[in-house]
Amino acid sequence: MRTTRGKPTLDRSLEGEPALATAMATALQALEQADRVTHGFHTYPAGLNPDAARDLLALFPGDSLHDPFCGGGTVLVEGLLAGRRVHGRDLSPIAQLVARSRTRVASPEVLTQLRATARRLADVAKFAQTMPPGPILSVVGDWYEPHVLAELEALRVGVRDAQVLDEARWLLWATFSSIVVKASFRASDTSSRREVHARPPETTAILFHKKSRELGRRLEALAAAVPAGTPVADVGWGDARQAPDIAPVDLILTSPPYPSVYDYLAVQDLRAAWMDVGLAERQEIGPRRAFQELGSREAWRQWQADTHTWTRAVASRLRPGGHLVVVIGDGLVEEGTVPTWETTRAAAEAAGLRFRASASLARPDPVRRATRWEHALAFTRP
Ligand SMILES: C[S@@+](CC[C@H](N)C(=O)[O-])C[C@H]1O[C@@H](n2cnc3c(N)ncnc32)[C@H](O)[C@@H]1O
Repeated sequence: MRTTRGKPTLDRSLEGEPALATAMATALQALEQADRVTHGFHTYPAGLNPDAARDLLALFPGDSLHDPFCGGGTVLVEGLLAGRRVHGRDLSPIAQLVARSRTRVASPEVLTQLRATARRLADVAKFAQTMPPGPILSVVGDWYEPHVLAELEALRVGVRDAQVLDEARWLLWATFSSIVVKASFRASDTSSRREVHARPPETTAILFHKKSRELGRRLEALAAAVPAGTPVADVGWGDARQAPDIAPVDLILTSPPYPSVYDYLAVQDLRAAWMDVGLAERQEIGPRRAFQELGSREAWRQWQADTHTWTRAVASRLRPGGHLVVVIGDGLVEEGTVPTWETTRAAAEAAGLRFRASASLARPDPVRRATRWEHALAFTRP
């Protein structure tokens, strides 16, 4: 990172069409975490910056959009705000839950059910005494104080059994999911460091109620901001290496896993245990675990093969004249950097797409005390 008169500036490198590359660099430079509509509702690791997503979208006008690695749904929310038909898929059922809850233009009836049910469940959970059943307890037991376990268990059973519309149940699960790590001794979603702190009785139930009200408010803001006539967001589970079951789109904007940076599936173990969902960890692309288990050379080879497979799969859903935009950062392993730009470009060209431009920015990585490059690459289907 360079500094100019005391202000940090990011080193950058541009390729291809100069105007497009410069505009993509400007979009990537967004650093402040915008909190409009539903963006800030639920944490999700490595979420794209909402302003960057908005500005990249604006560079490629059209009426439809797909994100095959949608994570918490940042790109989908921005697509809805721009009035587009949006599709999102992710291998993680937690990503599916978060993205789905963030992109609902919910009816007043669903929002009333969300609020009323959450209040009722919270009132009951404050006085809960029952521990979660064995299979859940064996995973989550060490991470909570006993009364917090009992409050969460009452909420879990309450959400599962509530007499509500499916849509409202999704929102209640998303609310539950949003407090699972916060109420635990986990330092954060992506760290398994233990931080023991006191959480007084009843506050977990109260937090659940507060989060349901926050979600309700955010969804109302989303409904007010999405242009009339925008189709309902289509969010589902999917492995990006298989062509998605969607009508052709005119933009694919996505941020695939950066090699060896996170274990996106494994970090959701607490939520998965509480909500009884399976994590298809072996299907994850580029997890840290693979780099540790297989060694960097073999894991990188695997990541390259996966990059070619998913790029070919999604390119088959682009309209002629449509665009693929990939935001990806280099990985860091003991031996050094795991480069991503070359493979991303080669995979898109092998899939029949034409390279248009790219912007690369140097990002300081304080955790690893290093600098990692992050790239946005744009391609067009002839
Ligand atoms: C960088 S994150 C995406 C973050 C997203 N752009 C956001 O703003 O929240 C990468 C995502 O890829 C998902 N993923 C990993 N392997 C996958 C696969 N084979 N198919 C689909 N999704 C996968 C992970 O679950 C993770 O959510």
